[in-house]
Amino acid sequence: MVNHPAPAMPVETQFELLDLKQFSARQLRPLLESEAALWHERLRWDYSSSTELLLQYLDSRILPGFVVLDRGRLAGYTFCVYEGNKAVVGDAYAIGSTPEQTARITETLLRRLLDLLLETPSVGRIESQLLLYDAGSVDGGFREAGFARHPRLFMELNLSQARLSSPSLTPEIELMPWSSLYYQSAAELINLAYLGHVDAEINDQYCSLHGSLRFLHNIIRFPGCGVFEENNSWLLRERNTGQLSGMILCSRVAPDVAHITQLCIAPAQRGRGLGRLLLYHATNHLRRTGTAAITLTVTESNHQAVALYEDAGFHVRHRFDAMVLNRSSTLWMRG
Ligand SMILES: CC(C)(COP(=O)(O)OP(=O)(O)OC[C@H]1O[C@@H](n2cnc3c(N)ncnc32)[C@H](O)[C@@H]1OP(=O)(O)O)[C@@H](O)C(=O)NCCC(=O)NCCS
Repeated sequence: MVNHPAPAMPVETQFELLDLKQFSARQLRPLLESEAALWHERLRWDYSSSTELLLQYLDSRILPGFVVLDRGRLAGYTFCVYEGNKAVVGDAYAIGSTPEQTARITETLLRRLLDLLLETPSVGRIESQLLLYDAGSVDGGFREAGFARHPRLFMELNLSQARLSSPSLTPEIELMPWSSLYYQSAAELINLAYLGHVDAEINDQYCSLHGSLRFLHNIIRFPGCGVFEENNSWLLRERNTGQLSGMILCSRVAPDVAHITQLCIAPAQRGRGLGRLLLYHATNHLRRTGTAAITLTVTESNHQAVALYEDAGFHVRHRFDAMVLNRSSTLWMRG
């Protein structure tokens, strides 16, 4: 991977744009803590374990990214991570003196990060899902570079209002709690469930078994989507064949809020009520054990899933964008 040195360059008169690797976790901590407070306010998400993990990475000074200094004060940062020939925009966050200035600093950081990635020939694909930002709010650099935009929804279910009747299960299928014994089969199911699916255009991990294993690994071992909860995650298995028919995976994003990180049903088993059964079962279980709300993200064009969630009482709390660029399929014309 080629890492270009980041020369200091002016943004506005008092601003400097610098390489993230020049900064320690201690210097970045106040910015990240302010960001964590925003995650909580906007998405009910306790971001502190993600913050601590990110600070460890920042201290190892390996993350490609940039910061903006405003007269010596850290006013914003952005970074990305590489997965093979793919780059994933990890985050972008800024604190300006006005909302307009905050947006300008964020856009400047993102444009510089995209420039770095576009100048790097080994980067064949770029993915971004900046959950904190309203759809269309910081997308100038992405649009100019020719990214495809996929509108996504952040949905929430208030469990004090939800009373979902559990549908009954056909005798040939059993419901069981998540077990790591099913790690490989679960990755196979994810890979199968997203064949030709819009979410596989957004996240190319779904396109291969290796990628699906990596997706599961990230969900289960790292706190990026909350802390995985084995006892709130469920599998459906065919009694005769032992094959998995579906799964719902949940994580904890705040003491009283759970997040559904995965729900899928094998294509051959769809339309029989299994998706609804898993969703309702997990929801009832979470409610009984004291969870106040459940959140999830879903692609707006995934009408079946959106219909299922709305029917269960989920409402849209926030709209954000997934941005994707496949370099092989795009002509680069940047001056
Ligand atoms: C979304 C998914 C989990 C639904 O599972 P399923 O077992 O097929 O769904 P169910 O049979 O339980 O149907 C539940 C509801 O979903 C919606 N739904 C399911 N199939 C649908 C279809 N073909 N067209 C429109 N709505 C549909 C309906 O609201 C349905 O309720 P109804 O039967 O009362 O009309 C499944 O289609 C799937 O795995 N899709 C691929 C992965 C995915 O998109 N996961 C969600 C990511 S956020």
